[in-house]
This record gives sequence, structure tokens and C-alpha cells, in this order.
Amino acid sequence: MTFRVTVLGAGSIGIFVGGKLAAAGADVTFVGRPRLLDEIAATGLRLTDLDGGSDRVAPAAFAVATEPTSAATADLVLVTVKSAQTAVSAEQLVGRVRSDTVVLSLQNGIGNDTVIAEILPSCVVLAGMVMFNVVHRDGGVFHRGTAGGLAVADDPSLERFAPLFARAGLPLDRHADLLPVQWAKLLLNLNNPINALSGLPLRTELGQRDYRRCLALAQAEALAVMDRAQIRPARLTPLPPHLMVRALTMPDVLFSRISGRVVAVDPQARSSMADDLEQGRKTEIAWLSGEIVSLGRMVGVPTPVNACLMELIGLAERGDERRWSGADLLARLRSAKCDATEDAARPSDRA
Ligand SMILES: NC(=O)c1ccc[n+]([C@@H]2O[C@H](COP(=O)([O-])OP(=O)(O)OC[C@H]3O[C@@H](n4cnc5c(N)ncnc54)[C@H](OP(=O)(O)O)[C@@H]3O)[C@@H](O)[C@H]2O)c1
Repeated sequence: MTFRVTVLGAGSIGIFVGGKLAAAGADVTFVGRPRLLDEIAATGLRLTDLDGGSDRVAPAAFAVATEPTSAATADLVLVTVKSAQTAVSAEQLVGRVRSDTVVLSLQNGIGNDTVIAEILPSCVVLAGMVMFNVVHRDGGVFHRGTAGGLAVADDPSLERFAPLFARAGLPLDRHADLLPVQWAKLLLNLNNPINALSGLPLRTELGQRDYRRCLALAQAEALAVMDRAQIRPARLTPLPPHLMVRALTMPDVLFSRISGRVVAVDPQARSSMADDLEQGRKTEIAWLSGEIVSLGRMVGVPTPVNACLMELIGLAERGDERRWSGADLLARLRSAKCDATEDAARPSDRA
């Protein structure tokens, strides 16, 4: 049987995952913007991998569209837009998708699946997380720049798609409860604003101790919030999250020794937030650092570091082109943390 797959949000992730499914025999339609659709319709796809693997997908092997009309006959819809576009995209599916269509969100952040499920209450809507990074290069080339696979919330409806994903080289890592994985991924994604502000490739940025100290500050704060909210993140790194925070602050030589997975990063790979800033698009900061700030507010834990990262990314979204050195960014985040500590220690005006 040939599965019909609609990829809603043809960008780095949607085209890489959808392209792999097309290479494995699925009937795939990419729904996206003309600039990228025109490119892939002309060149086809070349899907390359960190380990040297490569798939070619000819233009005739997939369809492109700017509206998700193909969702009407789809067995599976992959939602791969950025979080800010989740609701608008899901609304485009209303009246189009059948009730037996599986809608799988492959997005960072917490709660995109809930947003979609509220808009499409009669569909099976599932959460998924892409654990690898994809870089788009000219000429229809999409490169997997880090190790990792696809983690999804398990559901019986996924049974029939599992062989297709396995054939595509993207076996589904199925979790009875995906939330711990989503929170753990969010911890890792707290590096996205730091990477975007650095202007550097991920490997270069994470190779510098001061940037890692920035990430350690953001993660330590996030873990304090999660602890208070009784959220236990899964372990996605060689060390558990609390120890990872300490490892991040180690000198470069020691860190590179213990961080085998961090080394498995393509020298050119950058966070998708860096791409968003470069292309003048709104970022996912509100769904990453913003999630920590909101939860911190709810459980009464201060979050000055993540709030500061939100502020700096907000400035960058409005055109500030400053590229932060590790030392400058670290000083800025530490100062935000000190100010918050002093504010908390100061007797209130009402006392
Ligand atoms: N890139 C990575 O390496 C990576 C890794 C892991 C996870 N993720 C996550 O995966 C998700 C997708 O990221 P991405 O980097 O693939 O995003 P992306 O490259 O921005 O791709 C999304 C594409 O969908 C388009 N789009 C938005 N709304 C649409 C609509 N209603 N109809 C048709 N097209 C629409 C966007 O156009 P506009 O630009 O015009 O909005 C954009 O071209 C995000 O949640 C991200 O955090 C990304």
C-alpha cells in the first residue's frame, strides 16, 4: 500500500522528513511557500547525512502546493511549521482532513499538538520531536547536521506507518508519555537563542566555554522551574540534565572529551532560530525560553536569565544585528541574574 503524506510546512524539517518518506515510496505532497517549492520542484531533493549517506528524490517523485488541499486524501499529515504558525496552519486543515487521518506534529516546544487537537477535535493528533538538526543548502540540498531520530507519542494509529518510517531510515522512537522528552528537548533548545545571538555555527559556539556557561545558566534556571513544577525531563544526553549543566561549565578540553554527541555536529550546522533571524522571520523564542518564563511565573520561581534571552532575541527580531561574544553575553546574563536576586532581597515598598 502506498501511503499518502501531506507535509504542512515545507521547510528544513518537513522537506528532510517528507523527502525521506518519498524516497521510501510514500506519495508525498509538500505544502509551503513558493520560494522553496519552486527550488525543489526544479532541482528535486538531495538529502545528505552526517554519516555520509545521501538520497536523491526526483521532482516527479513528489508534489508541491501552497494550500493543503492534498490533506483531504492524506493518510498522514506532518505539521512542520514553526510554533507561531501552528494554529493558522491547523485551521487550514479544518473541513479538509478526514477523521481517520493521523496528524503528527514534528515541532519543538510544548503543546503544539494540543493547539492542533483543539482545532481538529475529530482527528488523531500526536506529538513528535525531531532530535536532529537540518541545514538547507542551495539546489534542493537538505543536510542532517547532527545525530538523533524521531521521538513520537505512541498510539495504535502509528502501527501502520512504523514500517514506512523504518524504511525511510527514520524509525519512530515511540513513547507512552512524550512530555519528559519534550521538556528535555526544550532544555537543549535553550541553546537556540544563544546560538542565534552568537552568529556562529553550533559546533564553534558550543566549543567555547563562555557560551556554554550561558547555556548552563539558562538550563539551571529551567531545571529549578521544572523541579518546582514536578516535571522530570528525560535523559537525552550522555549525562542526566542536572549533571549536564555542570559539565557545560568545564574547560573546553574536558568538555569535548565527555560530550561525544556534541562533537557529532556538522561544522556548518546552526540553530533554526539563527536562520529565522537571518531571514527576518519571527522566532520560536516564546515557545522555548518563553515557556520557562511562563512556567516560572506560575510556580513562583524567578527566571531572569531566560527573560533576558527573550529580550535580546526580541531586539534581534526588531533589527538589532549585534553578534554577542561569549564573554559579553555571559556578563549580560549574570547581570540580569544579579539584578533579580537584589530585587528579591530588597524589602518591598509596602513593608
Ligand atoms: N531546523 C531544524 O534543524 C530543526 C531541528 C529540530 C526541530 N525543529 C523544529 O521543527 C519545526 C520546523 O522547523 P523548520 O526549521 O523546518 O522550519 P522552517 O524551515 O521555517 O519551515 C517551515 C516552513 O513552513 C512555511 N509555512 C508556515 N506556515 C505555513 C502555511 N500555513 N502553509 C504553508 N507553509 C507554511 C514557512 O514559511 P514562512 O517562513 O513564510 O513562515 C517555512 O517555509 C520547528 O518547530 C523547529 O523548532 C527544527
